[in-house]
Amino acid sequence: MRARRSVLAVPGSNPRFLEKAQGLPVDSVFLDLEDAVAPLAKAEARRNVVAALRSGDWSGKAVAVRVNDLTTHWTYRDVIEVVEGAEGRLDCVMLPKVEDAGHVRWLDTLLSQIERANGLPLGGIGIEAQIESARGLVNVDEIAGASGRLETLVFGPADFMASIGMRTLVVGEQPPGYPEGDAYHYVLMRILMAARSHDLQAIDGPYLQIRDLDGFRRAAGRAAALGFDGKWVLHPGQVDAANEVFSPAQEDYDHAELILDAYEYYTTVERRGAAMLGDEMIDEASRKMALVVAAKGRAAGLTRSKVFERPETL
Ligand code: GLV
Ligand code: MG
Repeated sequence: MRARRSVLAVPGSNPRFLEKAQGLPVDSVFLDLEDAVAPLAKAEARRNVVAALRSGDWSGKAVAVRVNDLTTHWTYRDVIEVVEGAEGRLDCVMLPKVEDAGHVRWLDTLLSQIERANGLPLGGIGIEAQIESARGLVNVDEIAGASGRLETLVFGPADFMASIGMRTLVVGEQPPGYPEGDAYHYVLMRILMAARSHDLQAIDGPYLQIRDLDGFRRAAGRAAALGFDGKWVLHPGQVDAANEVFSPAQEDYDHAELILDAYEYYTTVERRGAAMLGDEMIDEASRKMALVVAAKGRAAGLTRSKVFERPETL
C-alpha cells in the first residue's frame, strides 16, 4: 500500500511550482492539466508536465497527472502525450468528473494501448477516479469495480457542491443553515464504502481556505476518523497537518502491532482463537482492525516502540 496521507495539487502551467513540489514532504503529488490550467494554456502545460516528469526528482512520492475530463476534447491528447512522454516515470493517471464505469474503462483501454505500443509493463499505470457529481456518486460502486488499475477514489468537493446545488461557496466547509449535522457525511461514507469494497484507497479533496489551518485540520480529521487515507493539500502550510492527521498516533500504532503479535502467539503456539492482551480480549476481528492501523503506521514510516512479551508459562 502506498501512503497517500498528503496529496499535493500542482498546476501544470506553472514551472516554478512543478520544481518546488519536488522538495515538499508529501506522500503523493498530482500534476494538474485540468481545472488549475486555463484553456489556452493546456498544450503548454502538457509540455511542462512531461519535462518535469522526465527531469525532476520525484523519489519517495506517488506521482500522478490529472488529465481533463471526458466531456472535453483534451483528454485523449493529455493521456497520450503525458504517458508516452513520461517514459515510465508516472505512477497513475487521475481522471476527474468520472460519471460512470465507462469513463474508467475508456482510460484503461487507452493506457493498455499506450503501454503495449511503448514497451511499458502492461497494467503498470494506475488510475485515480474523482467522484465529484451526483451522477458519479450514484454510480460509485460500478466505478470502483471498473478496472484493476484503480488505486483510489477521490472526493472532489468543489465540483460536487456545484453539482448538487449545495448553498455555500466555501469549499470543504459546512454550509451555513445546517448546524446539526455534517453535510458531507453521507458522501464521504458512500465513497468510502465503494472504495473499501474494491480494496481501493479513499482520498478527501481540497480545503480552499489555505490560511485557515484549524479549519483544514477539522475537515481532515473528520475524513480520517471515518477511515479515509488522505487529503489533498494546496499549499505547503497544509502538508504537515495532513501527514499528521492521517498517520496513526504512535500509541495506537504500537497497540496495533502488539495485538498482531499477541494474536499470532495465542493462535499458533497456544492454539486459542481468543486471547488476552493485558486486560483486553482480542480475537480475529481485533486482528483485522489492528492490521489496518499497523499498515497505515508502517506506510507512514512509524517504527514500534514496544515489544510483545510472551506470557510466563507455568
Ligand atoms: C476537486 O477537483 C474539486 O472539485 O473539489
Ligand atoms: Mg473538481
